Amino acid sequence: MTEAVLLVGGKGTRLRPLTVETPKPMLATAGVPFLHHVLARARDAGIDHVVLATSYRPEVFQRGIGDGRDLGLRVDYVTETEPLGTGGGIRNVLDLLQSGPDDPVVILNGDVLSGHDLRAQLDAHRSAGADVSLHLTVVEDPRAFGCVPTDESGRVTAFLEKTPEPVTDRVNAGCYIFNRRVIDAIPAGRKVSVERETFPGLLRDGALVVGHVEQAYWLDLGTPAAFVRGSCDLVLGRLHSPALPGPTGEWLVLPTARVATDAVLCGGTTVGAGAVVGAGATVEGSVLLDGAVVGEGAALRDSVVGRGAQIGDRTVLVGAVIGDRARVGADNELLAGARVWTDARLPPKALRFSSDEASA
Ligand code: GTP
Repeated sequence: MTEAVLLVGGKGTRLRPLTVETPKPMLATAGVPFLHHVLARARDAGIDHVVLATSYRPEVFQRGIGDGRDLGLRVDYVTETEPLGTGGGIRNVLDLLQSGPDDPVVILNGDVLSGHDLRAQLDAHRSAGADVSLHLTVVEDPRAFGCVPTDESGRVTAFLEKTPEPVTDRVNAGCYIFNRRVIDAIPAGRKVSVERETFPGLLRDGALVVGHVEQAYWLDLGTPAAFVRGSCDLVLGRLHSPALPGPTGEWLVLPTARVATDAVLCGGTTVGAGAVVGAGATVEGSVLLDGAVVGEGAALRDSVVGRGAQIGDRTVLVGAVIGDRARVGADNELLAGARVWTDARLPPKALRFSSDEASA
């Protein structure tokens, strides 16, 4: 048996307003909740029991994933009433883990889309006799990430969180393997950051922390641009996901969506269930969530349109984020960085969506 803990308690503030009602790991990405892609890949790597460390809107996870049977996994939930941070969240699920003290437990950030070979990391972890191993990926600009230098044997020598002068382009990719006894040692009942407290503490104590460098597809879906990119890459097949609900290609149209015959969809666009794309509209590299409506002649690129949101005829969106149920009138032009919030006059349950019904 191999177990995994998924950290999914964050509020996803950078993705607001999309995350007002839906936590980031549950946002529909290439047609299914993002977590379905992560869980399906984990299952294929040999994981059979997953504990979700939730905090923000835990009910959305339970509704969308249930006991995990449909995904071929056993899924349990633990909810922090006050967010305990990444390390505190890992410690808080300890009672639900069945692994022995020296067994490896996989820890995954719930917002990372990664093609890396988890089985290979588990093998490397075991053969190195490591206490902890981390997947390290290589990025062009490491300043916004946690830099992780290693010595020639692969042993981690420091953790440098978001530094203006990075000493290496190898960064923490958000996938760790902890021997269970390392989790036992994290202080219980208080906020702990795994990046700022647990990892530096392990190095101080002389633990064997090993970097596992692999440059497979890797994307942190923290920002709207990255979220749209990840969804489109899954549809285009740049990263294989066993959870993709259709063939790869220029577009993915879910059942019950309606797309006018002369509308153009490309760049890995997803059209969610019950969504409508009007005559002459062009939707390129974008995500239309369930029930979204795009008017005639509208032109969308690199944008995300929330559940039940409406985009007027001939409106242009480039790099825009439109919240659930928001309405953008005809002939508007919203360019990169524009965010339109949900129409607060409508109660959250004013519209029902196919995904609600499927999971209700
Ligand atoms: P932003 O608010 O946009 O920074 O997003 P976020 O809240 O998701 O934070 P961040 O991207 O730094 O979190 C990395 C991962 O850790 C995500 O998968 C979060 O869901 C998770 N996470 C962050 N804080 C907590 C916490 O307090 N408890 C738990 N269980 N998970 C957390």
